[in-house]
Amino acid sequence: MTGRQALNAPPTLACASCLMQRFSTGTQRLSLNLPKRYLGQPSPFTHSHLLKQGEVTPGLTQTEYALRRHKLMFKIQKESEDLGLETDHAAIFLSNATLYMSNDIPFPFHQNNDFLYLCGFLEPDSILLIQSKPGHSMPSHIATLFVPRRDPGRELWDGPRSGPDGAVALTGVDQAYPIEEFKHILPRLLDDKVTLWYDSTRPSHHSLHSNFIQPVLESNSKFKNRIKSTRLLMQQLRLIKSQDEIELMKKAGRISSHAFIETMHWCKPPVDEALIYAKFDFECRARGAEILAYPPVVAGGNRANTLHYVKNNQIVKPGEMVLLDGGCEASCYVSDITRTWPVNGKFTAAQQELYEAVLEVQKSCISLCIPGTSLENLYSHMLSELGNKLRDLGIVQKRCSDTLLYRAARRYCPHHVGHYLGMDVHDTPDMSRSLPLQPGMVITIEPGIYIPENDTEVPEKYRGLGIRIEDDIVITEETPLILSADCPKEVYEIQVCLRGH
Ligand code: GLY
Ligand code: MN
Ligand code: MN
Repeated sequence: MTGRQALNAPPTLACASCLMQRFSTGTQRLSLNLPKRYLGQPSPFTHSHLLKQGEVTPGLTQTEYALRRHKLMFKIQKESEDLGLETDHAAIFLSNATLYMSNDIPFPFHQNNDFLYLCGFLEPDSILLIQSKPGHSMPSHIATLFVPRRDPGRELWDGPRSGPDGAVALTGVDQAYPIEEFKHILPRLLDDKVTLWYDSTRPSHHSLHSNFIQPVLESNSKFKNRIKSTRLLMQQLRLIKSQDEIELMKKAGRISSHAFIETMHWCKPPVDEALIYAKFDFECRARGAEILAYPPVVAGGNRANTLHYVKNNQIVKPGEMVLLDGGCEASCYVSDITRTWPVNGKFTAAQQELYEAVLEVQKSCISLCIPGTSLENLYSHMLSELGNKLRDLGIVQKRCSDTLLYRAARRYCPHHVGHYLGMDVHDTPDMSRSLPLQPGMVITIEPGIYIPENDTEVPEKYRGLGIRIEDDIVITEETPLILSADCPKEVYEIQVCLRGH
């Protein structure tokens, strides 16, 4: 349904089971109603090689997106009950804006991931409004998109837009309007009986916020004081992945792993870090990734000791190791993998000693990735294991106390054991690392040992080596699922991959 229906006369939507019923029959109906034209994003009609009928984005159906909105409204209901609020609710999410590299030259657009998570709409300059349905027990809701209207003049430059009709048919939201309408809607929406849920401290689209939302909030301090943030609620939702999300994360992990294999096999010294970057990027895209998930670190030799080295413009010389921290984004989900290998194709004794120390710590941490533990527990475990390894390697003294071992581990591995992973690389960043891990959470495990070349306290053979090994792990009821398992990491596997036999 599109167009100019009154916002207070939405189509009927009800409880979760009705919702499932509606979508089990309704999805197809909506998909078959897709406009027979290009939209502002791939659709099952125009991109049948990417999307099946009923999917909004690859692998994610209208049902999945509707259930996410439903879960959000359930959380809102729960929180408002805890706060003793007896109002209706309206939640607002802004898309991202197009960013420009220079005058009239846009960067490739990337959607705001909270907005994307809730509706799958991939155009800029849009708003999602989710309203609890008055007179119904929560979390019955109405979802409305406000999107850029069709505009042949602009579409000549930027490509097709979905328009309100395309947005409804593709995403399965209840209704959609041209974005300008939102200006008139918000003042009508806010009264004493409505609580507004909105991330007003960090709006993802500054001009939509300052033109459409801020003036309304400023006009009445009552509104401003009653806003509740959606930030933590969204992160709680995104923290636990559905089975469909896990499938997409498997795909991202597989693509990146095979891009690593190709890159490692191809890489012969001397080699420019920029070429390694280009090769990895190519191999990811060639397997269906849209983009790299973050600027990769491609660091030869001592540069691996600069944790955020992204200049990637030096030559990796024969005899050096190279650290590649890279991962793709495929169908809106990312991977984050690090491997460190000798560009000659064979580890020296010192490189192998340090590498195997990191590898054993990494595997030990992965074996503990089970429900109930936490990233903080895994971090403590990593530090104590790294301390032991540093002692065994003679990097710290044999008879040093546990406290000194711990301190040495922090010195030679200044970063955490890992982070949550999902649509973003550092996903759900406000979720505590002390939370007990649960099935459906995805984390990275990425210990490292970094020995700067000028560290004279360390045996000379290890100086200038920086090693990190990073995998992506799904927490399950049973053994942890390693999404990056195809990427070689044992010494013999790496050497075979580098030599090609
Ligand atoms: N690639 C960023 C990280 O590992 O956290
Ligand atoms: Mn990471
Ligand atoms: Mn990484």
